[in-house]
Amino acid sequence: MDARRIADNVDWVGAIDWDRQLFDALVPLPDGTSYNAYLVRGKEKVALIDAVDPAHEQTLMARLASAGVTEIDLVVSQHSEQDHSGSIPAVLAEYPEARLLASDKGKRMLLEHLPIAEQQVQTVKDGQIVDLGGLTLQFLYTPWVHWPETMLTWLPERRTLFTCDLFGSHLATGDTFAREEAEVLVAAKRYFAEIMMPFRSQIERYLDRVNELDPAIIAPSHGPVFDRPSLILDAYQDWVSSPPQNMVLIPYVSMHGSTRIMVEHFLEACWSRGMRAQQINLAQVDTGKLAMLMVDAATIVLATPTVLGGPHPQVAYAAFLANLLKPKARHFSVIGSFGWGGKAVEQLSAMIPNLKVELLPQVLCKGLPNAADFAALDALAESIAAKHAAL
Ligand code: FEO
Repeated sequence: MDARRIADNVDWVGAIDWDRQLFDALVPLPDGTSYNAYLVRGKEKVALIDAVDPAHEQTLMARLASAGVTEIDLVVSQHSEQDHSGSIPAVLAEYPEARLLASDKGKRMLLEHLPIAEQQVQTVKDGQIVDLGGLTLQFLYTPWVHWPETMLTWLPERRTLFTCDLFGSHLATGDTFAREEAEVLVAAKRYFAEIMMPFRSQIERYLDRVNELDPAIIAPSHGPVFDRPSLILDAYQDWVSSPPQNMVLIPYVSMHGSTRIMVEHFLEACWSRGMRAQQINLAQVDTGKLAMLMVDAATIVLATPTVLGGPHPQVAYAAFLANLLKPKARHFSVIGSFGWGGKAVEQLSAMIPNLKVELLPQVLCKGLPNAADFAALDALAESIAAKHAAL
């Protein structure tokens, strides 16, 4: 339970959660996660930046003890969600002299979510600097990465930026720094898709601010630390700013095979027209994979059978999720099969008001698809290819 050095006078004192499988009772964690807390020791003051999930508070305490920490002057809460703040009451009980620092909104949210006395919390303003003695912490308000109260913390003397959820990844690993870069980027993309994608426009602005700081180390509160920040900064720039790719995403469910036949034909029709096309069977995959595929796709085509007059519930969930996550897709359609009628297209189209997409003609067939249905799928692929040519 040792602390791990990430820079002079700066240690990681977090917890690795190898076994967690679900976050927020919503987000699948195929690779576990970590809760990163950091200790910054100035000549006069010691600061703890964020804490850990309460299920792991003993790990945090053990790392602080092994680092020889007998006093903490400041606990910085960058984000009030409980995976980072939930063990702060235990920290304050162990180190009662500590003052808890948070943004304006952060203070309110900490008091609402945790058993913390108001007099223990002090607000810091955007841009405010706190002197630790030879080291300083500057707080940068960055609302909506992930909650409205979130802030980053800049340690200029070490060119280290603590970013809480931003630039994080749900990845349990023994590596303090990102070393398996391909693995880290996949985990970071999944995390971006699930948590950060709805806030793309805010993140785009924050990236400019982060690039101006020119950090040498980016230390998020989940997953590995980046001692080569361009790895994650370049990836984020692409995910938030680049136009969508020449890719058609086809989330689908098939109950008796008809929709599946349509999906297979449609995939071939897309590929033969020079587009990347990817199906994802919603009956089998986790929603994180679906979210990750939404990051780049220029077109989303939902493929559904008809259940009690509407779309299959798993497909409705995919539409609901897309509406929440607001990917940068520009075109949307529905294909599928029905037995005797229904309103799958109308219901799915009504579920995506947040998406800035052009609705393309649907292709629905009765029972098994016939030659006319295949021709309609070809025509849909043709029209998507023409639109993708303008990306
Ligand atoms: Fe890792 Fe939004 O908490």
